[in-house]
Amino acid sequence: MSGHERLRLVVLISGSGSNLQAIIDACAGGTIEGEVVAVISNRPDAYGLERARRAGIRAEVLDHTGFADREAFDHALIERIDTHRPDLVILAGFMRILTPISVQHYNGRLLNIHPSLLPDFQGLHTHRRALEAGHTLHGASVHFVTEELDGGPVILRAEVPVLPGDDEQTLAARVLEQEHRIYPTVIQWFAEGRLRLDSTHRVLLDGKWLPGPVHWPAFQS
Ligand code: GAR
Repeated sequence: MSGHERLRLVVLISGSGSNLQAIIDACAGGTIEGEVVAVISNRPDAYGLERARRAGIRAEVLDHTGFADREAFDHALIERIDTHRPDLVILAGFMRILTPISVQHYNGRLLNIHPSLLPDFQGLHTHRRALEAGHTLHGASVHFVTEELDGGPVILRAEVPVLPGDDEQTLAARVLEQEHRIYPTVIQWFAEGRLRLDSTHRVLLDGKWLPGPVHWPAFQS
């Protein structure tokens, strides 16, 4: 991005959209030099649509149940997203598995946030599984999306202690708080041109390959 253009962001959601809200707020406050130009939900009842409308952002529904298969949905999704000419596509609680068609189409400009310390607990019910496994450390990860589900290279992780007495809800809430910090951070790195996915699917930050995920808040110093 040149210093004068604001990053155009399209955010895909399926639910509450609290990460979307954090991104909207970060754009409004200048923490992200970008603008959410559209929010697209695969679910008509996603509360995040309301958040978008309240912020004066285009809120669109592309209901996956109206499509014969994942590929047909993905083709329509790409068409819809590209209407908005995004620099970066952000999955924020988007609970549909994308096919290689869209993953390749947005290669290097598609981010996801996942509520676990990846590579732990790919897939669903991460908080329950962390509790059941007796982990004392849990968290969230922001990663570039590749064809492997929740398997793309991790950029930034936030660790969250599992406390005695935690249940799924309390743990999820504590993890979400951290999600709201790390996602805008990574998006701003991208906006500043500091972050890139290379052709071998390794992450470059400030021109250097990341040896592994950066940990929040270690990078702050
Ligand atoms: C977040 O915890 C996000 O990490 C998770 O869904 C939640 C959405 O919350 N995403 C996934 O599980 C994707 N595999 P939000 O709608 O309030 O942002």
